[in-house]
Amino acid sequence: MRRLFACVVVLAAAACASEPPPADSEPPAQASEPAADAPALPGHAPERFGFGTAASPERVALWDIDVKPDGEGLPPGSGSVADGQRVYEVSCLQCHGPTGTEGPNDRLVSTGDWDQWPPGRAIGAYWPYASTLFDYTRRAMPQTTPGTLADDEVYAVVAYVLHLNGLVPADAVLDAASLAAIEMPASERFVPDNRTGGSVVR
Ligand code: HEC
Repeated sequence: MRRLFACVVVLAAAACASEPPPADSEPPAQASEPAADAPALPGHAPERFGFGTAASPERVALWDIDVKPDGEGLPPGSGSVADGQRVYEVSCLQCHGPTGTEGPNDRLVSTGDWDQWPPGRAIGAYWPYASTLFDYTRRAMPQTTPGTLADDEVYAVVAYVLHLNGLVPADAVLDAASLAAIEMPASERFVPDNRTGGSVVR
């Protein structure tokens, strides 16, 4: 703050260069620091501004949709691979391609080695938890209209995408329990990041 103060004085002096102030003049009043006990708001400001409303449990529930790796948070409902194919063709194919590999956007299928880039860094060989696919699809996809799929449709399209990755059979029907039970090939490829800071490296 002292340095800022000094800069302000220098700038003020430069601005007045045509008529330099006497060497012993007081610094300009506006450069003085605010009093330490200055109130955060002007005196006439109200205690509260009256914006917004209290968040009701219903509104909080709309945002509280995270699904944990063990499946905690998965909603009721279910969906089959067959239904998921229909959802995929209507809502996903144009961006992710007919088999989930063509794009133009991200690959959804990887059957190659996981350390190959890019073919290996997609769901089948790279995502450690199937539940993440549900969470991500429900909150973020289809990219231009996220939130438009019903939970049953999300279960179905997740089943279909997992089927494209060779992880569930064509007649699979997924719900909270069966989705959480899926063991992903990449489940051992990540470690929890428990660094505490500083020079600790995992
Ligand atoms: C309008 C284009 C578009 C549509 C439609 C769309 N996606 Fe996506 N999708 C994207 C883009 C772009 C990304 C990359 C987003 C990013 O990296 O932030 C993405 C990423 C993803 C990913 C993450 C891939 C990864 O490994 O990082 C999944 C899973 C996914 N989409 C599933 C779906 C599903 C399922 C549907 C249909 C319900 C769908 N998407 C529809 C554009 C789309």
